[in-house]
Amino acid sequence: MRIDILTIFPEYFNEVFDFGIIRRAREAGIVEIAVTDIRDFAHDKHRKTDDRPFGGGEGMVMKPEPIFLAVEHLLGTAEKDEYPEDAKVILLTPQGRKLDQPLVKELADKEERLVIICGRYEGVDERVSEALVTDEISIGDYVLSGGEPAAVVLADALIRLLPEALGNEASAERDTFSEGIFDFPNYTQPREFRGMEVPEVLLGGNHAEIEAWRREKALEKTRRVRKDLIDKGADE
Ligand SMILES: C[S@@+](CC[C@H](N)C(=O)[O-])C[C@H]1O[C@@H](n2cnc3c(N)ncnc32)[C@H](O)[C@@H]1O
Repeated sequence: MRIDILTIFPEYFNEVFDFGIIRRAREAGIVEIAVTDIRDFAHDKHRKTDDRPFGGGEGMVMKPEPIFLAVEHLLGTAEKDEYPEDAKVILLTPQGRKLDQPLVKELADKEERLVIICGRYEGVDERVSEALVTDEISIGDYVLSGGEPAAVVLADALIRLLPEALGNEASAERDTFSEGIFDFPNYTQPREFRGMEVPEVLLGGNHAEIEAWRREKALEKTRRVRKDLIDKGADE
């Protein structure tokens, strides 16, 4: 998979993809991440990427031209119906489809190429959504000051689902949300810590009992903290 990130703050990404699973996936050629400075495509005298909103109001709005030119440069076209197959142009916005594990899996399974646009200020000129963007994605019902942290969240969640990105694929399958419920609780050494014991069942080596205990604990916490997930599973 190739992920292009468009931003006016390219330095934001200097090291953020240099750790753990993401770093290994990049080194193994499972994913290529490239960051493009939108300002490089602002060709006016002051290399402006934002301007005042028509109609008045507070703040600044990101101009369409540099974003169109950057996407055109990356994909060879600004025409949606000419985008390469398996390519998506994603605008990060609190007004988009809310990111969840099924959406992450859908993108990881189907797409080869993602261009991710990070907004700033009051957001991005609406014509970018109208003519350039294939998908608007939100990482949750809150407002960030920029799309950059959202791009990191999206890329991280996606990359760990790419084939062979995780050393042990089974660990993605049992992750929270993958089966519609939370992951089970984990314990490691020491067996006793400040008076707290590791549950006896995990020490006995009876795999059937361990599986049953883990499932029960996972369901118990999901029911307590996110009953909506249980209700959703029952509806499907
Ligand atoms: C301050 S926000 C603009 C919010 C916009 N005025 C609105 O209310 O919809 C600036 C940028 O941060 C990013 N952003 C903010 N919240 C986000 C979220 N929940 N998910 C994804 N991106 C977000 C978007 O790229 C947005 O253009």
